[in-house]
Amino acid sequence: MKFEGRVALVTGGGSGMGRAMVEEFAAEGAFVVAVDINKQAATETVKGLSTPDRASAAVADVSSPEAVEALVADVVREHGRIDIVCSNAGVLDDYTPAHETSIELWNRVIGVNLTGPFLISRAVVPVMLEQGRGVIINTASISAFVAGGGGAAYTASKHGVLGLTKQLAFDYGSRGIRCNAICPGAIQTGMTEHLLTAEGRNPHVDAAIKGTPAGRWGKPVEIAKLASFLASDDAAFIHGAGYLIDGGWTLP
Ligand SMILES: NC(=O)c1ccc[n+]([C@@H]2O[C@H](COP(=O)([O-])OP(=O)(O)OC[C@H]3O[C@@H](n4cnc5c(N)ncnc54)[C@H](O)[C@@H]3O)[C@@H](O)[C@H]2O)c1
Repeated sequence: MKFEGRVALVTGGGSGMGRAMVEEFAAEGAFVVAVDINKQAATETVKGLSTPDRASAAVADVSSPEAVEALVADVVREHGRIDIVCSNAGVLDDYTPAHETSIELWNRVIGVNLTGPFLISRAVVPVMLEQGRGVIINTASISAFVAGGGGAAYTASKHGVLGLTKQLAFDYGSRGIRCNAICPGAIQTGMTEHLLTAEGRNPHVDAAIKGTPAGRWGKPVEIAKLASFLASDDAAFIHGAGYLIDGGWTLP
């Protein structure tokens, strides 16, 4: 198993892609801390694993500096190391255009989607530098490259995540820390399930998905497989990349 003996931390581990990442890393031998703001969701992720002894649930709001510092300190105290971090927790802005975006919505989306990965990285980098190795994987989005995958705050936050990823790779790559971003297209998760109902349908997303070469929504496990590859030693030469995994959404 490729992650035997390694400790992984996955934020947003209570649902969707984060849950799939927890499953994937645990199945490959890692001990995984599933972090979520929703305690019940994180607990259910762990309970649902085929190897529940290889994971634990933790509650933290990734946009809170105090909560993130306490989380990382707890994991290091308990497990002695952190090898893999997936900063994956995120929230959507319901495709709100700039002129309708309240400062509360802006701050919430930037706080979770961009400040969250910054705070997590700031807390784990010293641990990884001390170890001499570590992998950080940030979940960005096609919204790191194009408009229309979200509204103003979401698209700005995901462009920021890719920028943060590149800077982390640049600053720490030579000291053993690899950092990359995953940039999914439309994936069927808790975040998007309302878009599949008649009331929630978004014509832009509908048309985009029908028009992609894949012609369908992506599955969380397909994203988790990419995270697993990027976290593995097979990806040793990959630094600061933003991996589009979108069924071809952004090709045209
Ligand atoms: N679903 C898609 O189509 C899609 C596409 C591109 C990118 N993404 C990104 O993928 C990531 C995962 O999204 P998903 O689709 O699996 O969503 P999801 O809603 O299924 O899961 C997100 C999880 O994050 C948790 N979370 C929210 N705010 C948090 C906070 N402040 N602190 C800790 N946890 C918090 C939620 O409780 C939830 O369990 C997000 O960053 C999202 O922006 C999603």
